[in-house]
Amino acid sequence: MEPFDIRGVRIVPGALDASAQVDLLGDLRAVAARAPLFHPETARGRRMSVRMTSAGRVGWVSDRRGYRYEPRHPSGADWPPIPDRLLSLWRAHAGTAAPPDTCLVNFYGEGARMGMHQDRDEADLDQPVLSLSLGDAALFRIGNLERGGRTESVWLHSGDVAVLGGKARLLHHGIDRVRHGSSRLLPDGGRINVTMRVALPPAAGARG
Ligand code: SIN
Ligand code: FE2
Repeated sequence: MEPFDIRGVRIVPGALDASAQVDLLGDLRAVAARAPLFHPETARGRRMSVRMTSAGRVGWVSDRRGYRYEPRHPSGADWPPIPDRLLSLWRAHAGTAAPPDTCLVNFYGEGARMGMHQDRDEADLDQPVLSLSLGDAALFRIGNLERGGRTESVWLHSGDVAVLGGKARLLHHGIDRVRHGSSRLLPDGGRINVTMRVALPPAAGARG
């Protein structure tokens, strides 16, 4: 299928073919071996249904102190580097010269979902967010700059990329549900979503 836009969100179906998905899964298993998946808590103390970890200079965490980027995994370990295959995907689809400095890995087991939210914890909101879906298909809902209002939904399949940039950068979005077992990529089912971002302000010294 050709790439298309929904409210300015660029969807690239099948950006990664089946063998590239398998290779990337190996990279992500290595990331999770060094930085294990954990269930973040919201600032109100609710456990999120999605498990998460990160790669890059900083990683996204949430606990009673709120949402933020941290230089270390909750265990105290450094986050592993962003896998090269993901950096290439960013170069191919993000449309920006700045490299990503963080890569959030979300794992959706059976019944996991993600409520409508904006991605706005990054320093430079002119830089896009690139999301890659792996495994089970997910119903991705795209809303508005303000909370509420009419929304549109699209199924994201394994290998699909979505880019939230430009006027779509701050649109509310979420995952209503995952069709458990719809893909054979993960032997026990489930969905992995990887989002790369430029989280830190441009500073003296390199990103990466
Ligand atoms: C997110 O908004 O952080 C994740 C979206 C997705 O899982 O596709
Ligand atoms: Fe998001």
